[in-house]
Amino acid sequence: MNAQIDHALEEIRRFRPSPEFAAQAVADESLYESARADRLGFWADQARTLLQWEKPFTRTLDWSNPPFAKWFDDGELNVAVNCLDRHVEAGLGDRVAFYWEGEPGDSRIITYAQLTDEVKRAANALADLGVREGDRVAIYLPMIPEAVVSMLAVARLGAIHSVVFGGFSADSLASRIDDAEASVVITADGGYRKGRVFPLKPVVDEALGKAEGGTVRKVLVVKRGENEVDWNADRDLWWHETVATASNEHEAQAFGAEHPLFILYTSGTTGKPKGILHTSGGYLTQAAFTHRNVFDLHPERDVYWCTADVGWITGHSYVVYGPLANGATQVIYEGTPDTPHPGRWWEIVEKYGVTILYTAPTAIRSFMKLGRQIPHEFNLRTLRLLGSVGEPINPEAWIWYRHVIGGGSIPVVDTWWQTETGAIMISALPGITDLKPGAAQVPVPGIEVAILDDDGTPVHGEGGGLLVITEPWPSMLRGIWGDPERFKETYWEKFGDKYFAGDGARRDEDGDFWLLGRVDDVMNVSGHRLSTAEIESSLVAHPWTAEAAVVGAADETTGQAVVAFVILKQSQAEAASTLEDVSEVLRKHVASQIGAIARPRQVFIVNELPKTRSGKIMRRLLRDLAEGREVGDTTTLADTSIMQVISAQVR
Ligand code: PRX
Repeated sequence: MNAQIDHALEEIRRFRPSPEFAAQAVADESLYESARADRLGFWADQARTLLQWEKPFTRTLDWSNPPFAKWFDDGELNVAVNCLDRHVEAGLGDRVAFYWEGEPGDSRIITYAQLTDEVKRAANALADLGVREGDRVAIYLPMIPEAVVSMLAVARLGAIHSVVFGGFSADSLASRIDDAEASVVITADGGYRKGRVFPLKPVVDEALGKAEGGTVRKVLVVKRGENEVDWNADRDLWWHETVATASNEHEAQAFGAEHPLFILYTSGTTGKPKGILHTSGGYLTQAAFTHRNVFDLHPERDVYWCTADVGWITGHSYVVYGPLANGATQVIYEGTPDTPHPGRWWEIVEKYGVTILYTAPTAIRSFMKLGRQIPHEFNLRTLRLLGSVGEPINPEAWIWYRHVIGGGSIPVVDTWWQTETGAIMISALPGITDLKPGAAQVPVPGIEVAILDDDGTPVHGEGGGLLVITEPWPSMLRGIWGDPERFKETYWEKFGDKYFAGDGARRDEDGDFWLLGRVDDVMNVSGHRLSTAEIESSLVAHPWTAEAAVVGAADETTGQAVVAFVILKQSQAEAASTLEDVSEVLRKHVASQIGAIARPRQVFIVNELPKTRSGKIMRRLLRDLAEGREVGDTTTLADTSIMQVISAQVR
């Protein structure tokens, strides 16, 4: 990561928008001007223009009780109607909503009219299962159309979805079900990944055995993998017997703009994932606004593809809510980029004539490694805009993306945001901003950010500091599910009424923002957020482990990788090491406890961990070791010779 930042600091290339692109661009300078002149008026205009309100709002922002914001709170709308029915009523029912591509090569084309029908059926089926306004529904599905249908059906009823990424383990699913007290789970028998069916329903069964709350009454199961599943006749229902047979007539009710829409769990600095809560009107406004302007969406002609899974915030805001509110035509793909061949993504771009592609730097870097000959076998000339999200994009990857995938002259937008921010906060606007490879660049219109030092003093110039958001924004999180204190402590305690993002950033002489990575114990592996504390507690839960320390070490492809240092219990050490490959056992243990994305790249067995006199583990020194660097300043260690001992064991 440091090497990447060094490169970024030296980066001086600039790319002006081409006159042809600028001439047709959706965004224009007046957005910045009107947001500067009247920020709240600007957001109110966006909310009125982009959404359909059943009851118009008269109040834009209520910030009388920070950090609990209310946006447009006397207005009423139905989020699903905004994403579906109103497009059909406007005569766009035949427009394709989704070109869906399954990993084995099967595909489906779904129009807005068909999607609306299916969501109405699913809403009726869920209502029959007793789902009511405010109830929580857990969704644990592969990237199939039913995932989107489920989310919108839950939203249509005014219930709250909690989507859990299909790669998470039974334990992770159980704790999320318990925390949200979900009453229904929607899953599939299995889905396709890397040419094989991975089971989902069996994981749900296991999770429900582990969940302590016993809140789940019904499990709705989509048939996808055709794998064998156990069946509990009192609890389990097939989607094709329940939803497919339900009525497609459903009158949607309007809900208040601050009505909860979803909970999405994300890693923080402690062991327990936090349930980030988003609400309706403000969230949908900013998701739709950014999707339109950052991606220069022309819904009547674009084919947009965001490669994120709906299990992450990017899938919520830029596969489901933003694009559908804007009436976009999208591609979604079930599987992995290299199945059955390494050109699969480019084959899909060619097949559907994708014009806008939104993906993560880690994917771009993997393609770079494979070489340009693979994408060059396909016709990628329909692409006219590229987006990046999830972690800093190094200038080399940015340039490769623009040249090899984009043909050399199309805009690349690097978008900075978080699960908590709900929608894009910092990004160039294509057609307006001169692009700088490696920088997220400018706050979107209506967003105010600053860089502060630890004491809250604004930082100017090269050194950089902590990124804060200084004014409330429409799609901001409204809290952590069930834990208002943790919400205040995590984001608002440090700088009062300014939101502390947890990222380092610097501003260059033009005023552009460069993101420098997390400043807390959160790691970013392949654009996914992982907590050091969560992996450490998983490691110490293993009977062999006495102590564990985890760091995020720079990794060429994944950005960061999980590297663990473990001290074994004396009673276990000898037996364990003679029996098996201890490191491998512990790596697998973490994968099974949390999910494959959390599996450490390396687990080093050591006799000591570097600690200060007060007993705090100095992760900085372990990171030096993991990245193969000279170990930094050890003078604050209780025992300064300890790093030599550990280095010897690691080598
Ligand atoms: O560190 C930042 C990084 O990802 C974190 C947010 O992760 P998550 O909530 O999982 O959301 C990811 C998708 C929005 C941030 O705190 N991050 C995200 N986008 C960028 C980024 N870092 C640098 N540049 C980005 N464009």
